[in-house]
Amino acid sequence: MSEIGLLLTPARIAGRVGELAREIERDYAGRSPLLVGILKGSVPFMADLVREIRLPLRLDFISISSYGSGARAGVVRILKDLDESIAGEDVVLVEDIIDTGLTVTYLLANLRARGPASLEVCALLDKSVRRIIEVPIRYKGFDIPDEFVVGYGLDHDGLYRNLRGIVGVRDAGSLDGDIGSLADAITGAG
Ligand code: IMP
Repeated sequence: MSEIGLLLTPARIAGRVGELAREIERDYAGRSPLLVGILKGSVPFMADLVREIRLPLRLDFISISSYGSGARAGVVRILKDLDESIAGEDVVLVEDIIDTGLTVTYLLANLRARGPASLEVCALLDKSVRRIIEVPIRYKGFDIPDEFVVGYGLDHDGLYRNLRGIVGVRDAGSLDGDIGSLADAITGAG
């Protein structure tokens, strides 16, 4: 467990999610934004965020997979596209974490080509030291250091998304699939 440290408690996340919701409420007052979540990492964040926003909003989801590294880094394949057209809509793209920025940059270009009235990014976490391409993050939850993190939607090999807090792991290899002890550590920390 020494390799693993609690970065964000559930209470801290909830507090910040509430603040982001207030900002979105204020900025989109009188409008009906469409929040687009990137599957699967944005699911817990999206679920909490939308329940704090008192606006007539709608939801959609897009699922992508990254093709690769090196020269092909940032090339993204759409596995599940949006259900509806976003032409003329006020779109907020909701992401769990911006790391190199390549994924969101690709998605922003793709979505912008569909003619939304506006398009902004809402990201829970910003690992800005790793940035390769500048990303305009309109709504940002937390800046985090260059550490691999899991929990609250973020995964390692598909696991740990269901943790209520976010933990940093120095070495992802030290994760052994024991979700119970991580969940206990998060609960114990309040
Ligand atoms: P980017 O294209 O490098 O910005 O990658 C963003 C994606 O990489 C996120 O949506 C995550 O799926 C994944 N990712 C980046 N850093 C982490 C991390 O620390 N933990 C889990 N997933 C991460």
